Amino acid sequence: MQICDESIDLWTIPLSNAGDRFQEHEQSLSTDERQRATRFRSAKDRRHFTLARGSLRSILSQYLGTQAEAVRFSYGTHGKPRLANTHEPSLEFNLSHSGEYALCALTKSHPIGIDIEKIRTADPNYYLRLATRFFSRKEFEAISAAPEHERTLFFFACWTRKEAYLKRHGLGLHLPLSGFTVNVDSSESAHLIDTPWRPEDLMITRLQDLPAPRGYRTALAVASPQLKNLRHYTSS
Ligand SMILES: CC(C)(COP(=O)(O)OP(=O)(O)OC[C@H]1O[C@@H](n2cnc3c(N)ncnc32)[C@H](O)[C@@H]1OP(=O)(O)O)[C@@H](O)C(=O)NCCC(=O)NCCS
Repeated sequence: MQICDESIDLWTIPLSNAGDRFQEHEQSLSTDERQRATRFRSAKDRRHFTLARGSLRSILSQYLGTQAEAVRFSYGTHGKPRLANTHEPSLEFNLSHSGEYALCALTKSHPIGIDIEKIRTADPNYYLRLATRFFSRKEFEAISAAPEHERTLFFFACWTRKEAYLKRHGLGLHLPLSGFTVNVDSSESAHLIDTPWRPEDLMITRLQDLPAPRGYRTALAVASPQLKNLRHYTSS
């Protein structure tokens, strides 16, 4: 498979009905990935990690023209996986999983972050408490000002947009969640509002919500305002 300069390829990986390829995916994992799988306490988490990582290997192998087990990863300081430099150096990717789905996004040369979250319904005041603790002041105020029945959706729109942005930079929570602001209205297009730690991101980083399976919310952040084509695939 080929990816052109201005495209983003988005792969949906259903985790609940990928059972018949489980063994194939498990066999493609490296020794450290298999060890990591054994450390999950819950069998479901172990299975989902194996399916997501095996599918990621299988997807990348199609672009690299190699076998899934031959894909080599290296890791950033805060754990972001990328292709080891023995491969095509310009292929960028990121993976996220939640509930019964994983998502993988790929681009050529543009660092990318993706997030999927299963929307868990709880007392909207619970999400307000989380927002006041973790989000920026402006985000908290916008979520508080929303009608109560929209607060949960606004919270998850904010969460996935922020997480995608964090993951684009590979910084995890080393960049405080309160240190940048995104819009929270789930019916508006996603955008960055304020990134004082890196002002140029307002010009060069694009934030975008993605079509999500029912009951989920997804967003991506990519280091290019130019990318136009979003191609969707489903991994078997
Ligand atoms: C990895 C991290 C960036 C995201 O974790 P998460 O939300 O639990 O998980 P996701 O499913 O979205 O992403 C996990 C995948 O991202 C990739 N990843 C790991 N570290 C990463 C990093 N520093 N940056 C980008 N991607 C990373 C891996 O492929 C990982 O998959 P794996 O666990 O199967 O190896 C985590 O370090 C983190 O900081 N989480 C904060 C979560 C949070 O509290 N968010 C609050 C709401 S804004």
